[in-house]
Amino acid sequence: MPHVYVEDISKHEGQEVTLKGWVYNRTDKGKLRFLMLRDGSGLIQAVVFQKAVAPDVFTAADTVTQESSVIVTGKVRADQRAPGGYELDVTNLEVLQQADAYPITPKEHGTAFLMENRHLWLRSSRQHAALRVRSEIIKGCRDFFDDRGFVLVDTPIITPAACEGTTTLFELDYFGEKAFLTQSGQLYNEADCMAFGKVYCFGPTFRAEKSKTRRHLMEFWMIEPEVAFADLDDIMRLAEDLISYLVARVLEKRGEELKRLERNTALLENVRPPFPRISYHEAFDILEKEGTETARGADLGAPDETILSSRYDKPLMVHRYPKDVKAFYMQPDPQNPDVALCVDVLAPEGYGEIIGGSQRIHDHDLLLKRIKEHNLPIEAFQWYLDIRKYGTVPHSGFGMGIERVVAWICGLEHVRETIPFPRMLYKIYP
Ligand code: 4AD
Ligand code: MG
Repeated sequence: MPHVYVEDISKHEGQEVTLKGWVYNRTDKGKLRFLMLRDGSGLIQAVVFQKAVAPDVFTAADTVTQESSVIVTGKVRADQRAPGGYELDVTNLEVLQQADAYPITPKEHGTAFLMENRHLWLRSSRQHAALRVRSEIIKGCRDFFDDRGFVLVDTPIITPAACEGTTTLFELDYFGEKAFLTQSGQLYNEADCMAFGKVYCFGPTFRAEKSKTRRHLMEFWMIEPEVAFADLDDIMRLAEDLISYLVARVLEKRGEELKRLERNTALLENVRPPFPRISYHEAFDILEKEGTETARGADLGAPDETILSSRYDKPLMVHRYPKDVKAFYMQPDPQNPDVALCVDVLAPEGYGEIIGGSQRIHDHDLLLKRIKEHNLPIEAFQWYLDIRKYGTVPHSGFGMGIERVVAWICGLEHVRETIPFPRMLYKIYP
């Protein structure tokens, strides 16, 4: 019997096929045993009728436990009432392993318990749906950049220097030398874009942030484009196009998953260019009227971001923050050197910053001055300064955190559900 996946079941109506998977749950009714099977690609109900199978097969169906691994053979029958439109009339059932009493049951479990059992929780339908959307978003990012002539250039994970401030570094011993897990591939991307014009990197990034919020992970995945000859406006358009593309793609291809997550998709349908753009100081005029506790000149806090983004039904681009609250490498605005040519993209519905980007300083001496002002070790940045000596050009890029985008698009309360095994403050198990 051919092994087929549940997602392909419609191609096999009327045929006898074999499915391989796990028992999601079982219901008994007289001489019938209904096994809900999952195989990773979907769910289907397998119907075992006592008179249609050998006695030992019925016994197996009668005693099989939740999450037991099984190989099921049967005939595919269309049924309008069935969740996926098809059911399987079972002719044979083989139990590969009879599962122990499964700790995750349909009753409500606390998050701490579910996180302890993350290795099993992944099988639950909401978790499964969120991670499918994550996979779609990552594929979407790759397609978006590949189709626009960007070259994927991988950047190192073990690095000798900080990109995003020295307070959030994970340090390690590199054969007697101090090294760090990367916070961002950006600095290397800047070298790469001078070789390839348009590049992106995609990989895990690390921040030892002592923040226990619903938006912070210690290890998260970032997609980072970097474009030679691009200015701030260019990459703001790129960011807007990327986000719109991803939302449209998930709506088109992962509607089932969004439904399972009970996502209000009407809120996503609006996400089309152009996105609203306001400067930091314009944002502050609004925040002051709303009575923010943040002082003008400081970085925006999460409550500020929520106030601002809740005024719009699309992602909001806040540009030109004071240079002192942003990273050392940002190009000052020639109109007002106190602000940087940078942008944060804030997701709607209070999901906060999903993209941070900027135009980079391309003048050697200004960059050197900034590195000194930030007390960064010049030796570690010599190669980075070097890029400014050999045909330097204005260039810009941004980083988008995958987990925050998944949380927003799926409508999830916390980023811990957007990655298979989240690394969180003081939590590294499983
Ligand atoms: O704003 P950030 O710190 O920007 C950079 O790292 C730049 N070097 C990127 C670049 O220009 N190439 O981080 C970018 C994004 C944030 O907007 C957010 O989505 C995500 O990375 N991010 C986090 N996501 C989860 N947990 C954390 N602790 C995060 N820190 C940043
Ligand atoms: Mg940022």
